[in-house]
Amino acid sequence: MLTQYFTASSLDGFIAAEPEDGLAWLLTRDIDMSGPQGYEEFFADVGALCMGATTYQWLLDHHDGPWPYEIPAWVFTHRRFPPADGDVTFTAGPVPEIHAAMVDAAAGKNVWVVGGGELAGQFCDHGLLDEVWIQYAPLTLGSGAPLLPRRVEFEEVALDRNGEFTCRRLRVKR
Ligand SMILES: NC(=O)c1ccc[n+]([C@@H]2O[C@H](COP(=O)([O-])OP(=O)(O)OC[C@H]3O[C@@H](n4cnc5c(N)ncnc54)[C@H](OP(=O)(O)O)[C@@H]3O)[C@@H](O)[C@H]2O)c1
Repeated sequence: MLTQYFTASSLDGFIAAEPEDGLAWLLTRDIDMSGPQGYEEFFADVGALCMGATTYQWLLDHHDGPWPYEIPAWVFTHRRFPPADGDVTFTAGPVPEIHAAMVDAAAGKNVWVVGGGELAGQFCDHGLLDEVWIQYAPLTLGSGAPLLPRRVEFEEVALDRNGEFTCRRLRVKR
């Protein structure tokens, strides 16, 4: 069981542009979901996920159709969202406690921290993040939501090209 942060990023370390720009810089690019370090390979081993409130709100605003995940999900927030149409738990609980619940729910599979970067950083703060998978798009954004606003040392597990992206799978050094 690994706790993994899987995300796309600009070369200068932003996972989302300023709000009016959103993710258009990312979603229009060529990537093979079933290619190296693609979403399909990654997600096949995921048993539970979590995300912050901004990412959840982005999904509500941009994803057509029902909640896209069948696995249990936690949303870290202090806001009051309407009840979700899937297995979603809203929480402002301590990260280690929620992580333990996610590990239980994942039943031997991996745990995915969807983002944002500050939430992934909180998992790092508690020594709970094992890996970061980053798909770097060939552009800089100059500003936006940070990839991982912490100082963390990594060792490389794999380095691949997939479409327009340079994909790095990194293990957190403890
Ligand atoms: N490039 C990619 O692949 C990718 C991946 C994921 C996300 N994204 C995008 O990146 C952006 C990330 O936004 P963001 O940096 O604002 O991060 P976020 O983690 O999505 O949301 C941050 C919010 O989550 C809540 N939160 C975080 N930690 C918490 C805790 N311990 N307890 C309770 N609530 C907590 C807080 O919301 P409240 O206190 O206000 O409720 C906080 O303001 C989004 O636009 C998303 O769509 C991109």
